[in-house]
Amino acid sequence: MNKKLIKQVKRSFKEQFKTKPLIVFSPGRINLIGEHTDYNDGFAFPAAINKGIAVAISKSDAKTSNVCALNKNEIHNFNTENIRPLKDGGWRNYILGVVAELQILRKRVGNFNAVFAGNIPGGAGMSSSAALENGFVYGLNKLFHLGLSKHDMILVSQKAEHNFAGVKCGIMDQYASMFGLKKSALLLDCRTIESQPYKIDFKDYKLMIINTNVKHDLSESEYNDRREVCERVSGLLHLDALRDASKEDLDRIKNDISGEDYQKALYVINENNRVKKFSEAIKKDDIQALGVLLYQSHEGLSTKYKVSCRELDFLVDRAKENPNVLGSRMMGGGFGGCTINLVKKDAFKTFKKEISKKFKVAFEYDCSVYSVKLSRGTQIVKK
Ligand code: GLA
Repeated sequence: MNKKLIKQVKRSFKEQFKTKPLIVFSPGRINLIGEHTDYNDGFAFPAAINKGIAVAISKSDAKTSNVCALNKNEIHNFNTENIRPLKDGGWRNYILGVVAELQILRKRVGNFNAVFAGNIPGGAGMSSSAALENGFVYGLNKLFHLGLSKHDMILVSQKAEHNFAGVKCGIMDQYASMFGLKKSALLLDCRTIESQPYKIDFKDYKLMIINTNVKHDLSESEYNDRREVCERVSGLLHLDALRDASKEDLDRIKNDISGEDYQKALYVINENNRVKKFSEAIKKDDIQALGVLLYQSHEGLSTKYKVSCRELDFLVDRAKENPNVLGSRMMGGGFGGCTINLVKKDAFKTFKKEISKKFKVAFEYDCSVYSVKLSRGTQIVKK
């Protein structure tokens, strides 16, 4: 599949720009557990996957740059000397954002031509935007010899998202997409921005991703609101971030905050602890415990943090009814997108059929089901 993507962008690039491009592949991500913990300096457990974005890119001597989004059949023409976020810019803003943030670092980015295409479902909580940002920052770093490390690059990608897409995201997506490793998930400390790789083998179980096909729009202020609540509460506690808070700390200021804010902060504290428990359960091969933690995570996201939606809750409830599913929860920012499920290998097909049917009956449209491979992060594709 990715080979096909790479071929597509290569061919289209050659047709349009008549030169040989540099090719970058940048993956999307899943997250096993640790949702909305990253911007609280907490822990998350993401992995890069075998779906992503292929970018064909080369320098240009012309006065302007051209970027072609192959899936949409759209081209954006701009000058790197004069970059601003566009109103309703969609994919354009992620790329313009990367260029602008590089310039803020006083890196000289000349004009360039690029063609990109992807196979990560958009708005599904699988980080197509991080894959796009990383793909471009990686390609530009190489082309213009900017000398940035992978750590530098993910911070550029994150700032592009903050300042050009208006989402005050944490670092999880960009990190997982850049640093992903084959067959592994990364236990990520979002304070130090360092991770420990865990080889993943769920024995008789495997991951199933189910997309509600409800498109979330993270810039829809809800995401930024959650972040603000967390920062307000940690501020009242005189802490740098909720990562440093315990339930006892929170209880001390219970009367100074609203019941809703209390629940949200409590969710973050609990979820952060769940990530640690999850990693310990993996070490002990305690697959049952993983399932329990997934369900607990969803419960918190839905009832305390309030970032789920009807369709996501429906999928998790149906998963709970099936003994072949050990655990399930919504994944990513929320308000739509996917659930991640731990499903018995030999029941994978039947559960896929069953859940698809039930979803269709309930909502009168189809959900989509994917299996994913844990894969390498952003990389140059060798010729
Ligand atoms: C989005 C953001 C991430 C993270 C998740 C929720 O994917 O980009 O930084 O906050 O939501 O865990």
